[in-house]
Amino acid sequence: MPSLFQPYALKDVALRNRIVVPPMCQYQATDGLVNDWHSVHYASLARGGASLVIVEATAVSPEGRITPACLGLWNDAQAEALAPIARSIEAAGAVPGIQIAHAGRKASANVPWEGDDHIPADDPRAWETIAPSAVAFGGGLNRVPREMTIDDIARVKTDFAAAARRARDAGFRWLELHFAHGYLGQSFFSTHSNQRTDDYGGSFENRTRFLRETLAAVREVWPENLPLTVRFGVLEYDGRDEETLAESIELARRFKRGGLDLMSVSVGFSTPQANVPWTEAGFLGPISQRVGREAGLPVSVAWNMGRPEVASKIIENAQADLVQIGKGHLADPHWTYAAARALEEPDASQWLPPSYAYWLRRY
Ligand SMILES: Cc1cc2nc3c(=O)[nH]c(=O)nc-3n(C[C@H](O)[C@H](O)[C@H](O)COP(=O)(O)O)c2cc1C
Repeated sequence: MPSLFQPYALKDVALRNRIVVPPMCQYQATDGLVNDWHSVHYASLARGGASLVIVEATAVSPEGRITPACLGLWNDAQAEALAPIARSIEAAGAVPGIQIAHAGRKASANVPWEGDDHIPADDPRAWETIAPSAVAFGGGLNRVPREMTIDDIARVKTDFAAAARRARDAGFRWLELHFAHGYLGQSFFSTHSNQRTDDYGGSFENRTRFLRETLAAVREVWPENLPLTVRFGVLEYDGRDEETLAESIELARRFKRGGLDLMSVSVGFSTPQANVPWTEAGFLGPISQRVGREAGLPVSVAWNMGRPEVASKIIENAQADLVQIGKGHLADPHWTYAAARALEEPDASQWLPPSYAYWLRRY
């Protein structure tokens, strides 16, 4: 039976256990650049014992940021500033990962604690949003995006590949394409947002074309020996889940044939009218298990798995290869150490730096 504290290998990357810090936007950047906040934040998380720390959604272009305070990888200065963060994660014994992203129609928003809604279009901080179709998300994110032209689509694919190359050069060893959560990739897939009638809309083949072509463009530049992964919302909790899940599993199989190494199974968030079972601990576990089995692909999973016994069961029951603990890590960067103690793991401090572990073992 696999265990939460067992190592895991994917391509040439060896993970020391099954615990992952998922990407979590910090909304603390200026001009897409990391600063002291990010340096301290990511090093602390890596020192806490997780095996993989994935840097937050990092935009492939200025217009792809969720908020003005999001990270970017659209220029070399941003990549150079990220390199020490990748090094500090690695120095703590974790694998440095990064998620590259385009927010599509959810871009140009206020940071969550200042409204989590669109910046008014006439505010100088706002920018034009683009999406497969001129359809707003709804709720507070009600700005109507511009429908992307074929040239826009080609440019964004190139932007993803350029950001992937910069991530590689900055020293990241695990890449995640953000195709989830109602952002650009997800919004091409979902009929809630894609009403195109050209080669990028309509049929399954057409609605998945942008995602498959972007993966292919990234595969060209991302090293073959390092994991290339996608975060994808495999269902919406919108009452059409069997149909969406069947399409998602078929897409996962297509991704696999296109060189994908792992899927981070998540929720679509393509519509505000969703009924997500938030309070049910580990609710996505059985779904990720199904995606992994039916697509024959390694999977990771998140959402409400922060109690150590819940995370542990996800791995023991083979519902996922890796478990992602988000808010648990904001509450306690040493979540892995705390979980190992709670689950009475024999050497709970083994993943901590010696300057912590030595003392914690003695007293
Ligand atoms: C502050 C915050 C920022 C987040 N930012 C991202 C992000 O950049 N990319 C992403 O895919 N998910 C993001 N998420 C979702 C998390 O990766 C994770 O899936 C979510 O927190 C659920 O896990 P949890 O229940 O353990 O917190 C974010 C979540 C939080 C709390």
